[in-house]
This record gives sequence, C-alpha cells and structure tokens, in this order.
Amino acid sequence: MQDHLTAVSDQVNAHFEQILSDIADSPISGAMRYAVSGGKRVRALLVLESARLHNVDSARAIWPACAIEAMHAYSLVHDDLPCMDDDDLRRGQPTVHVKWDETTAVLVGDALQSLAFELTMHPKGAETAEARANLGFGLARAAGAQGMVLGQALDIAAETSPDQLTLNEITTLQAGKTGALIAWAATAGAVMAQADSAPLQAYAAAVGLAFQIQDDVIDVTGDSASVGKAVGKDAIAGKATFVSLLGLDEAKRRASDLVISACDALSLYGQEADTLRQLAHFVISRRT
Ligand code: IPE
Ligand code: IPE
Ligand code: MG
Ligand code: MG
Ligand code: MG
Repeated sequence: MQDHLTAVSDQVNAHFEQILSDIADSPISGAMRYAVSGGKRVRALLVLESARLHNVDSARAIWPACAIEAMHAYSLVHDDLPCMDDDDLRRGQPTVHVKWDETTAVLVGDALQSLAFELTMHPKGAETAEARANLGFGLARAAGAQGMVLGQALDIAAETSPDQLTLNEITTLQAGKTGALIAWAATAGAVMAQADSAPLQAYAAAVGLAFQIQDDVIDVTGDSASVGKAVGKDAIAGKATFVSLLGLDEAKRRASDLVISACDALSLYGQEADTLRQLAHFVISRRT
C-alpha cells in the first residue's frame, strides 16, 4: 500500500505543479504550493481507485483527485489555526500561520477551497457536464455546513461542552469532519461514470470512521517527530473521540470491525477492488 500511495503522491504532486504554475507568483500562491505538499494522499487514491473500478481514465480522474487533496489541505490549514486546534507542526513542517501569518493561512485556505471546485469542474476531468455538476454539487455538500464544516464546529464545541458526547454524537461529528470528504473521494469514480455509488458510499462510511478513530489512536500512541504533527493534545483540549469515550483497546476493536464491514461492502466488485480493501486495512495500521 505504501508503494501505491507513493505512486499516487508523485502523480498528484506533478499535477499540482502544473496547475499552480498557472497562478502568478505571490505570497498566497507560494503558501498554497506549500500547503498541498506532503501528506499520505489517501483521498486521491480513493478517487483514482474508484475511477479505475468504473473504467474512467486516470488522466481524467487526476482532476478530482487533486480537487479533494486541495479541499483537504484547506481544511488542515484552517484546522491548525490558533482559533481552532492551534498547532505549529503539519506534515513535518511549520504550519502555514507559523511560517507566514494568520491572514495568509485564512486566505490560503479560502483559495484552496476555490481551487478544489475549479479542479472538480475542469473540462479535462469528468467527461460529461452532468457528471462534473454532480461532482461539484456533492463536494459543496461534503465540505460545507452539513459536512466537514459541521463536523469541525461540533468538534470545537465538544471541547467546552459540560456533558460528555454520546457515541452517536461522536459518530455524527466524525462523519462530518472526516467522513464527508472521504465519502466524496471514494464515490467520485462512480459519479464520473454516472454509475451507482451506493456500494462505495457504504465502504466510505466505514473507512471514514475507522480513519478518524486511527487518527485519535495516533494522537495517544504516536510521537510527534514520526507523526509529523503534534500528538497528545486531544485529551488536553477535551476533544470528543472514540478513544476518549471507550478507551484505546475498544476504539481499536471498533475500527477493525469497521474495516471488515468496509471490505464486505465491496463484494460486488470482486477482486478488482482489492486495492480499496488493502487501503481499508492500511487506514487502521498506519502510524502517521
Ligand atoms: C488528517 O488527515 C486529518 C484528518 C481528517 C484526520 P490525513 O491523516 O489524511 O493527513 P495527511 O493528508 O496524510 O497529512
Ligand atoms: C481534522 O481533525 C479534521 C479536518 C481537518 C477537517 P483533527 O484535528 O483530529 O486532525 P489533525 O489530528 O489535526 O490532523
Ligand atoms: Mg481538529
Ligand atoms: Mg487538528
Ligand atoms: Mg487528530
């Protein structure tokens, strides 16, 4: 899986280089380039694999693959701001507001979000205008006030909530903050091909939650130097997570059950979906 992700990463980096070279040099474009660098590229791989399953050319799928990585990068730049998680380290480098300043970080996030929609709608991406519109519509929903932004708002509100969140509430929070963009990525190939996205939706719901549980496990078990971001902060900040509610062992058990259901959801695709199955296992075995 690591080799696979490295190959995807090379493809995504080359494509971003091309796209961003069209934007005139400015502090914003420099910081955008910085913010989209690095990362595991899990969401891009989801787009490319779901596209491959539906016989969509990777030269087309790279557009929504970079779109979701741009959207994700924006969410991280804003997530790290002092008014959010207040983090200094991301992907092993100083965060954008530390290397530049808060104004730049806010604007870079805004610009990356716009870029994500631009790439989603690009005529060289999905072949039909209808498919491009459906991708854009879905991305707006996934990123906005009923998706990622909602999840982030619930995540921050939980820090100061007098009551502990229930498991259902945490599941809703995580389905928003992490699950929604992952679900868009995993279903993008089906949407591009105008095919049924229900099996990939089911896969993504399970993988998205497992992904965030593992992120919360890493916050407790990882060390900052190898993870490339701050760790040990969720408990201090009062974050509501599977780990805070259920403890490490039970959270890990739930994550591994989710991976089994994710793989089951792909039965329709047979062996063709083996890379997505391996990715589901990678999601809970990763250390970064
Ligand atoms: C981190 O996402 C933020 C979450 C949504 C949990 P990733 O773990 O995918 O971060 P990168 O892209 O690899 O840096
Ligand atoms: C971030 O979740 C989710 C989004 C950016 C939408 P976290 O706050 O747990 O992510 P990390 O741990 O900072 O990467
Ligand atoms: Mg956060
Ligand atoms: Mg954070
Ligand atoms: Mg985290």
